Amino acid sequence: MSTHPCLSLSRRHLLAAGGAGLGALALAGCGGGEDVPRLTGVASGDALVTLAELPLEGGYLVELDGRRVVITQPAAGTVAAFDATCPHAGCTVRPTDDGLGCPCHGSAFDPATGDVLQGPAASPLTPVGVAVRGDDVVLA
Ligand code: FES
Repeated sequence: MSTHPCLSLSRRHLLAAGGAGLGALALAGCGGGEDVPRLTGVASGDALVTLAELPLEGGYLVELDGRRVVITQPAAGTVAAFDATCPHAGCTVRPTDDGLGCPCHGSAFDPATGDVLQGPAASPLTPVGVAVRGDDVVLA
C-alpha cells in the first residue's frame, strides 16, 4: 500500500520540526493536480526531505514558500538544489531519467551543478543552499 507523498511528508516534517524545536514548519498541501509537496515557513536548518526519499542520481520537486525547488542527489550522500524556474521562459524544471529537464522546450540541466546541458536555455539554474544533516536534507 502506498502513501500519498504529501501525507508522508507532512507527518515527517511536523515530527522533525517539533523534535528539533525548529519552529513553524507546516505543510500547506498539494495543489494544482500535481503531487508537489508545499512547505511554508521554512527556515535554515529545516528538513526538506530524507536522503532515503531522494532518488540517487535523481531529484525531488518541492515548493518552499511559493518557490519551486528541485533537490538532487547526484552521488550517494551528495545533494544539491536549484530554483526550478527554467531560465529560458519560466516553466518548471523537473527531475527526469537523465537528470533535470524542462518539459516546455526541452532544456536539460546538470543535476550536480545546474549547468545547461542542452538548450534553448542559455544560463544555469539558480542554486539553493541545502545540506545533509543526519538522514535529512535541510535548508542551509
Ligand atoms: S521554458 Fe524551459 S526550455 Fe523553454
